Amino acid sequence: MDNERIDQIIDKYQGKASSVIQVLMEIQSENHWLPRGILEKVSKRLEVPLNEVLHIVTFYKTFSLIPKGRHEIHVCTGSSCHVRGSKRLLDAVQDLIGIRPGETSSDLRFSLETGNCLGCCSLGPEIVVDGEHHSKIAPDNVEDVLKDYD
Ligand code: FES
Repeated sequence: MDNERIDQIIDKYQGKASSVIQVLMEIQSENHWLPRGILEKVSKRLEVPLNEVLHIVTFYKTFSLIPKGRHEIHVCTGSSCHVRGSKRLLDAVQDLIGIRPGETSSDLRFSLETGNCLGCCSLGPEIVVDGEHHSKIAPDNVEDVLKDYD
């Protein structure tokens, strides 16, 4: 992400310190992670102390300080999805994209996470890609689901 684009995002909020979370969220959304240099720039331009910016990005799970893939896959491992086969689903995802939960593929295409109930247990096993829910997914259908995410 270049400096010009970061400036555009900050300018959109008139450089107001109160917009720091929105600015960071927009940068996270486009860049998929927040390198130290970007945090320093945001801190300087919004006149928010760097330690305050660091506190925000480490407090909220939505921010990442390590590179993330263009697409975030979340496999539900809650008890209901577990009963409905989420372990086999997770194995199929891992086999297909070659990474484990908490990792990012070397081509930066995918990041993989697991987590607890997503609130739609009757539709499990559930997989979410970039916030889009895919329900009742069989391991054999994982490739079909992921092929549309370049
Ligand atoms: S346990 Fe997976 S959605 Fe509830």
